[in-house]
Amino acid sequence: MTTSIGTPLARVDGHLKVTGQAKYAAEFNQQRQAYAVIVGSTAGLGRIVSIDAAAVESMPGVVGVISHLNAQRLPYDAHRGAIDPPAGERLHVLQDAEVRFFGQPVAIVVAETLDQAEHAANTLKITYATQPPAVDAHSAEKVVPETARRPGSRVHADIERGDATAALQAAAVKVDLEYVIQRENHNPMEPHATVAAWNGDRLTLWSKSQFVVNEQAEIAAVFGIPPENVEVICPFIGGAFGTSLRTWPHVTLAALAARHAGRPVKLVLTRKQMFFTTGHRPYTLQRMAIGATTDGKLTSIIHEGAGETSRYEEFMEALTAVTSFTYSCPNVRTSYRLIPLDTSTPTYMRGPGEASGVHAMECAMDELAYKLDMDPLVLRKINEPTMDEGRKVPFSSRSMLKCYDIGAERFGWNRRTPEPRSMRDGRLLIGYGMATASYPCLFAPANARVRLMPDGSAEVEAAASDMGPGTYTSMTQVASDFLGLPVERVKFALGRSDFPATPPHGGSMTMGSVGSAVRAACLDAREKAMAAAAARDGSPLAGLQPDNLEWRGGALFAKGRDQAGLSYQEIAALSGEPILGEGSAARDPEIASGYSMHAFGAVFAEVEIDPDVATIRVRRIVGAYGAGKVVNPRLAASQCTGGMIGGIGMAIMERTVLDRRNGRPVNAHLADYLVPVNLDTPHLEAHFVEEEDTLVNPLGVKGLGEIALVGVSPAIANAIFHATGKRVHELPIMIENLL
Ligand code: MOS
Repeated sequence: MTTSIGTPLARVDGHLKVTGQAKYAAEFNQQRQAYAVIVGSTAGLGRIVSIDAAAVESMPGVVGVISHLNAQRLPYDAHRGAIDPPAGERLHVLQDAEVRFFGQPVAIVVAETLDQAEHAANTLKITYATQPPAVDAHSAEKVVPETARRPGSRVHADIERGDATAALQAAAVKVDLEYVIQRENHNPMEPHATVAAWNGDRLTLWSKSQFVVNEQAEIAAVFGIPPENVEVICPFIGGAFGTSLRTWPHVTLAALAARHAGRPVKLVLTRKQMFFTTGHRPYTLQRMAIGATTDGKLTSIIHEGAGETSRYEEFMEALTAVTSFTYSCPNVRTSYRLIPLDTSTPTYMRGPGEASGVHAMECAMDELAYKLDMDPLVLRKINEPTMDEGRKVPFSSRSMLKCYDIGAERFGWNRRTPEPRSMRDGRLLIGYGMATASYPCLFAPANARVRLMPDGSAEVEAAASDMGPGTYTSMTQVASDFLGLPVERVKFALGRSDFPATPPHGGSMTMGSVGSAVRAACLDAREKAMAAAAARDGSPLAGLQPDNLEWRGGALFAKGRDQAGLSYQEIAALSGEPILGEGSAARDPEIASGYSMHAFGAVFAEVEIDPDVATIRVRRIVGAYGAGKVVNPRLAASQCTGGMIGGIGMAIMERTVLDRRNGRPVNAHLADYLVPVNLDTPHLEAHFVEEEDTLVNPLGVKGLGEIALVGVSPAIANAIFHATGKRVHELPIMIENLL
């Protein structure tokens, strides 16, 4: 049945994208549209004392100035189905005079043109009573999160098996290290944007979102209107990496401005504004202590993590989640603390939690290997577990050893001489490093719908999103296979809140969750088509039971007969209307509780370092992944190499620097916030281990988006040590750390 799944189909939306026909949120211009510009607080903490709105209201083109002084009071109802905020209370925008962080929206200016709105926003005088904000995560207090105590939380704040402290003390060989990872911002190409239009009490939002059904629920809750009165549309996303999972304040502001102005309003965030109102990877501080016997068997792991959050919300991520199951070890203790700061709330950023936690674990494993005088790859292999020792359940599948072998072979790990500074290319220092990666195979209930059309095509719909992985293409392949139709006759549509509901386009769960729902909808459509073919008078298959029918080559036949088959087209034509198939997918709770489900991978990196000026270049990255079924190898490789590029950024470039006086991000632009460009992007290879996993979901797909980033930064950091002999316990690793 699977002829399209597994093939490298080119992106079905590729032509639309490269010819500029794909329409992004900010391009849905409306008639009579006005432009809104957010005014952000220049105080880092305090209260608004005065706003001189009158002075700008008379400026050319200005339609209105909205602040807490005149904004509509918003009910901010209980969440009613919206999954955000994680815990605590989300920012109530323009509802009071409090300033909680630098850049907090304190006013919006609406004008006829963007220039007029920007000019007026820049002119608006606001005075503040300020206090010094706490924005230095390193020195701030760490607190126990409430969130972790909630049942069902994936983040286990404090877990212990055995006695890790005593075992560490008794260990023959040990490392005890601290890692800092600086704050990062997602910096996708497409800025956040929302076009809002009210029609009476109904609201349409063309809005950049990885989770349109959540945006619908959230905005309905904020405005106290029924969710069915809100429609969210987002057919294309120009990159997101997690920053568009939540409905941030600008969406509320766009809707508020449109209501205030009585006409459609467009609001696009500037690059700078994307540094303080749309989430970021939190600063983390981690202690990673590992003890082992002299022959390298782990005896103790202690992982104490802390990550920043805002004062008004608890943001948590899976910082310490992988520590309990990655290696076999009898004594493990992990803890997770939060560092509340006067800042906006962090959010998930590609590989959230795992990318940071795995960095600490995998760098510490490398240091341990050197203390043991052992190959870092061998150290990992001899500590390979046979089950998830944290949850005491089997893995649904775990191809870690194969990943190590394939990765090492493709990379040429055996060419490595272990001594630091022992490998050179001319005058350049060469380093090889590796790391283990994993990411949970998450799943959430999803729905999809199929219409078999009288013209022989199929229309498939799910709310879903495509921020780059190729959802349009991969879902077309799934539908093609489970309908038995060629891909050209399948049209998959996504990005509308009135389509069947799907989970967030994040956590690497779109392919598994939405894909399984699409599969179910297609199977339902086939059954309906069979019933229709058998029920119609005049059908050559009239009166036959489904048991006596079979699909062959995209047409329905009476079993054992080659004549008088009916195509979908003919069946739909017989019915005179489209045949509707509906499907949903959910994970069996027994399987969920009985198995530990993750994608696994091994990442190998080569760096070159100039011994005089310490410039760091990544030369090669090779990853080998066991991620279940690969639906489209071309898209999968693209996902993985994209993640590797993100990992280069995390390892040696990306950090958001805050001015300690007021919390202002001082490098809030792409000239000073460095991301890898083409010249920083070396030879990248992703290999996939054949893996059949029938437990994770009906498609056997584990997801790739996050694991693609996990493990890259430690592989690079370990390679930098191998090249230079210097251990840097902070990310990003900068030239000055190596001089
Ligand atoms: Mo991803 S951080 O789950 O968008």
